[in-house]
Amino acid sequence: DSADLGPYRHYMQKEIFAQPVALADTLAAALKHGFSPALFGSDAHDIFSKTTAIRIVACGSSYHAGLVARYWIEEYTGLPVSVDIASEYRYRSGKEQDGTLIVAISQSGETADLLAALRSAKERGQVHILALCNVAHSTLTREADLVALTHAGIEIGVASTKAFTTQLAALFTLAGSLAHCRQTLDPAALAELANCLPRLPAMFTDIFPLETALEEWAHELSHYNHALFLGRHTLFPIALEGALKLKEIAYIHAEGYAAGELKHGPLALVDEEMPVIVCAANDALFDKLLSNLREVQARGGKIFLIAEPGCEAAFDYCHRTITLPSKTGPLAPIVFTLPLQFLAYHTACRKGTDVDKPRNLAKSVTVE
Ligand code: G6P
Repeated sequence: DSADLGPYRHYMQKEIFAQPVALADTLAAALKHGFSPALFGSDAHDIFSKTTAIRIVACGSSYHAGLVARYWIEEYTGLPVSVDIASEYRYRSGKEQDGTLIVAISQSGETADLLAALRSAKERGQVHILALCNVAHSTLTREADLVALTHAGIEIGVASTKAFTTQLAALFTLAGSLAHCRQTLDPAALAELANCLPRLPAMFTDIFPLETALEEWAHELSHYNHALFLGRHTLFPIALEGALKLKEIAYIHAEGYAAGELKHGPLALVDEEMPVIVCAANDALFDKLLSNLREVQARGGKIFLIAEPGCEAAFDYCHRTITLPSKTGPLAPIVFTLPLQFLAYHTACRKGTDVDKPRNLAKSVTVE
């Protein structure tokens, strides 16, 4: 029924624009109570205190959310974190160290590979399961010790948008809450992290006006058969997610790479037929990224740069640039996702694909 589409052409577009509300809903409890294990259930304080390691398992976009969370949790808690694709984890044979917290991320809570991975994890050691899910009553939430819900609302578009960014928001809250519980950050540092959260929905709203510019990029991108997405640190998984979105809905072959890996392979592919989409944060790694951009430009690659304010030194190497309205700090991966969603969405529209129901894909994969 397209009656509830309102002014939007597709559910994906509607869901992109629903993100400020979805994020505010997902963060509501954390905004009210601050970082706290209590947000994850009554047993969370006890479990978080005794956690010795974290293993994240997920599929698809949820796996990319897990890759981002690793940077946050490691930095704020010092705990070792590993991230696994559920369909690979379930067929590996390693034991789990006692006290491992398994964080299972799934929009639907019904992905067969993920559920199998969980059952397998329980047989490998004394572990606890924390489910991060968008569906309150799902197989995943029933099988978990701790539950955190995202409040994205129903997502109809097969390619995940608001489900993904709300997962990231919830995972940031998890990292802060683990740090609070384990006292691994001083109170001022923790307060600084918490203070980022109230601004997140508005950071999305502020980027909406950039849709027109990204639509123009999309017109250009739609003529290519391949694209490369680059990022560093927490923006590396966002490069993976940007590439996945373009593949899923615009049917353009795209690869996401850690910018530092460029010289170990993909640089060989770069020529004037290779658009390179780069996410740049104005952080300690910006100078390293600059030299990556120089390498791409020297080989004729066309750089489309999405940057935080303060990255102007990169502009000389770029074919097109967009500067975000404000600094993004530790929330960079959540915020940078939005322009990449617009880019994939408008490229798909330009190519005339079935945006909400891309060929061969399903919203929830309940078979192996
Ligand atoms: C499918 C969907 C993806 C999703 C993945 C994992 O492939 O098309 O958008 O990321 O499943 O789904 P889950 O519900 O476990 O997050």
